[in-house]
Amino acid sequence: MDKLIIAIDGQASTGKSTQAKKIADYLGFNYRDSGAYYRAITLYLLNSNVKHNLKISQEILNQISIKQDYNEGHFRIFLNDNDVTNKIRGHKVSLSVSNYAKKPEIRKFVFDQLRNSAESNSLVVDGRDIGTVVFPDADYKFFLIAEPRIRAERRHKQIDDDSVKVDIIEEEIKIRDKTDSTREIAPLRKADDAFKIDVSDLTINEVFNKILQKIKSD
Ligand code: DC
Repeated sequence: MDKLIIAIDGQASTGKSTQAKKIADYLGFNYRDSGAYYRAITLYLLNSNVKHNLKISQEILNQISIKQDYNEGHFRIFLNDNDVTNKIRGHKVSLSVSNYAKKPEIRKFVFDQLRNSAESNSLVVDGRDIGTVVFPDADYKFFLIAEPRIRAERRHKQIDDDSVKVDIIEEEIKIRDKTDSTREIAPLRKADDAFKIDVSDLTINEVFNKILQKIKSD
């Protein structure tokens, strides 16, 4: 059987990775988290004191080896054989990752990792530019959106800290949407042939069922 690619793109905090993992489990496909690659590279470069405002040499990139592993709900990522699954979600990486993710040499690195993964396996991949840039020929493309207020409320619940106000999170989300969609490199954009789902009023299972229906009906 030919390898299939399912691309799940969309706005921040719309549940892309939750859906991608559920689909991977259901169909028995591999799962790749494109954002996690950017986070792991950022961790390596921060630890090596490589600044984002300089070109990252091929020599440095050659020192980075990243492996992702996903199995029945458990995602792990290894940077040069060290498990960095938790570290890449830390504050330091979260603050810097967008600066590194802008760089063409880093985008090419992630692009190559994803393309290599797709050579041997059917994949579900989530990200910002998967259906537009990385896999423009993906077999199925989905684009998730939701009202900023609803995303802020969901994130507020996850953070579970009442000192952080929903209004502030909502403002941050709006700013991030704007940065993501207007940035010069790999702007967040729905591919013309992607199926858009507004998840604002849907549960996780309702979104999942919509995705499955679409896959089964094509
Ligand atoms: O989804 P996330 O928060 O883990 O993404 C981390 C960073 O990488 C974020 O700044 C967006 C960026 N990113 C990207 O530019 N392109 C992707 N395909 C995935 C993530």
